[in-house]
Amino acid sequence: MNSDQHKFLTVGFFLAMISVAGAYDSLDPNGNIEVKWDVMSWTADGYVATVTITNFQMYRHIRSPGWSLGWVWAKREVIWSMQGAEAADQGDCSTFTETMPHSCKRDPLVVDLLPDAPYNQQVARCCKGGVLTSWGQDPSSAVSAFQLTVGHSGNSNKTVRLPKNFTFYGPGRGYTCSHPKIAPNSAFYSSDGRRKTYASMTWNVTCTYTQFLASETPTCCLSMSSFYNSKITPCQACACGCQDRTACILKESDLDESVTGLNALLLQFTAHNCPIQVHWHVKENYKGYWRLKITITNLNYRLNYSQWTLVVEHPNFSNIMEVYSFVYRPIAPFISNNGTALFYGLKSVNDVLLEAGPNGNVQSEMILQKDSAFTLEQGWAFPRKVYFDGDECVMPLPESFPFLPNLANANPVPLSALACILVAIFVALLS
Ligand SMILES: *[C@@H]1O[C@H](CO)[C@@H](O)[C@H](O)[C@H]1NC(C)=O
Ligand SMILES: *[C@@H]1O[C@H](CO)[C@@H](O)[C@H](O)[C@H]1NC(C)=O
Ligand SMILES: *[C@@H]1O[C@H](CO)[C@@H](O)[C@H](O)[C@H]1NC(C)=O
Ligand SMILES: *[C@@H]1O[C@H](CO)[C@@H](O)[C@H](O)[C@H]1NC(C)=O
Ligand SMILES: *[C@@H]1O[C@H](CO)[C@@H](O)[C@H](O)[C@H]1NC(C)=O
Ligand SMILES: *[C@@H]1O[C@H](CO)[C@@H](O)[C@H](O)[C@H]1NC(C)=O
Repeated sequence: MNSDQHKFLTVGFFLAMISVAGAYDSLDPNGNIEVKWDVMSWTADGYVATVTITNFQMYRHIRSPGWSLGWVWAKREVIWSMQGAEAADQGDCSTFTETMPHSCKRDPLVVDLLPDAPYNQQVARCCKGGVLTSWGQDPSSAVSAFQLTVGHSGNSNKTVRLPKNFTFYGPGRGYTCSHPKIAPNSAFYSSDGRRKTYASMTWNVTCTYTQFLASETPTCCLSMSSFYNSKITPCQACACGCQDRTACILKESDLDESVTGLNALLLQFTAHNCPIQVHWHVKENYKGYWRLKITITNLNYRLNYSQWTLVVEHPNFSNIMEVYSFVYRPIAPFISNNGTALFYGLKSVNDVLLEAGPNGNVQSEMILQKDSAFTLEQGWAFPRKVYFDGDECVMPLPESFPFLPNLANANPVPLSALACILVAIFVALLS
């Protein structure tokens, strides 16, 4: 091995370490996007393949304007035709005179068709505008497929070379894809389930998400309040960065003037600078139950969050009795911690969190049962972690949580003890 090869391997090893460390999600250890290529038949100069994209992520969906999938061909392949999706750019096909390929690019980027695509361009499970729900929301809507006819590729499993360098946008950055791996040929069943056929060749690619690759700053923050304290705990100042105030507007009347700029992010002016704010309000305390209200506010004038999700980690969320206005799913069966809840909107009611403005929020109230150990003390009614669309929300500092007035007024000393306990809990959670 020469020194360049050695350097390359070392750098590759560190990149692999970073991507593995960054991608691991204890709430969803198996969550990823899987891209599977099945060569269905061989042609004179290539093959016909069905490509299936499955979102196995429990709570991270692919929102509008949808996924795009790219790769780099290993040889001089062309895409003769495509159904259920399209290459964004045809590329330079000037060497072809008779039949024009669908795309001649060495690195095609493929996007899904819209639901109103002509029927003869559709294939099963295509044409969703690239929108995939998370596996936890609805596995049947978490899959997308398209078909392509490849030429100049070789037409046997000995001559075909796997495409390289897969990229996945969902719709933005954040995903890192593995090298394709040859897998056992997929099996397919006839519609009556009585006949089984096989792909001629199968390979798959796994793409994993890393929050810091998607965005340098957080995108969500949490604020809190409670019936027992009139003080509202705001989001941390600069929770999502402070720098770029030019992308903010102070009042709605400024909106028209700034619309001319092509800035994808146009935020309402706040001290936290986050596009999403989640507010947690402990509303009432009954004998055997407590009541909670969660409001999610969109502060971005340029984005509707379709198929949004909210994940909450709270030890008492295994005791949820009733949830209004949102769909609730425990995601506990998949992890050891029982108190993790997935919420999302009701179809056609509030499954889209509309752009900033009077309608730019969704809310829910829920009733939780108390067990004998339940207490409002020591910030117990507040969550440990909250994720919006799979990205972790910045929590207020533990010392700013709303406190029980009697505890603070009568005994100033335990308050610092409380802070210590909370800090200890947070340190334990971080480690
Ligand atoms: C190619 O296909 C043949 C027949 O299906 C099979 O026996 C062989 O193992 C395959 N070779 C590779 C490299 O996959
Ligand atoms: C592979 O993808 C990366 C990231 O998109 C890019 O920087 C690199 O140049 C690509 N390699 C090839 C051979 O195209
Ligand atoms: C993808 O390929 C790998 C390697 O063969 C295999 O272990 C894995 O099960 C495949 N995934 C699926 C869902 O087929
Ligand atoms: C968001 O959705 C509403 C209602 O469908 C639409 O009027 C508005 O233009 C959309 N906004 C953006 C930024 O796409
Ligand atoms: C989680 O829930 C299961 C079934 O409801 C129960 O058997 C188990 O003891 C719970 N684990 C914890 C840590 O609470
Ligand atoms: C509920 O919260 C209390 C603290 O308020 C805690 O001691 C108890 O273990 C929690 N219950 C469950 C089922 O996790």
